[in-house]
Amino acid sequence: MAATDKEIKERLINLAIEARKHSYSPYSKYPVGAAVLAESGRTYTGCNIENSSFGLTNCAERTAIFKAVSDGEKKILAIAIAAKSSTPCGACRQVMSEFANASMPIILVNMDEENGTNEIIETTLGDLLPLSFNKDEAGL
Ligand code: THU
Repeated sequence: MAATDKEIKERLINLAIEARKHSYSPYSKYPVGAAVLAESGRTYTGCNIENSSFGLTNCAERTAIFKAVSDGEKKILAIAIAAKSSTPCGACRQVMSEFANASMPIILVNMDEENGTNEIIETTLGDLLPLSFNKDEAGL
């Protein structure tokens, strides 16, 4: 029996929370985890990876997307992001737009570790990146 949308979203949420545990963030001490569902049905996870040369830091979302693309995926269908405040940065929104439709669900998992509670907010790429520069619009 195929998994329902709700089950897939729950799975992505749990994978993002787990991936956050691998965060390498000794400088910011701000762990982030992400999980994407790709068109093949496979899921890919990522965490933020910092560097002593701070500008080289890679966000969790891009880690997960780059893992997917480097395994041959071309399209992502959904993403969950887990952090204290999990809204994706502008660079990650732009990278998402390369591999996703504007309708792609983005599930934000805002974690309150003191209380052990998570606030779940569902939005879309189009809502977070309106009027985006993209290959179709630009004819690239
Ligand atoms: N970070 C992410 O992983 N994703 C985002 O969308 C925002 C920021 C990371 C980068 C850095 O390691 C830490 O969070 C603090 O900025």
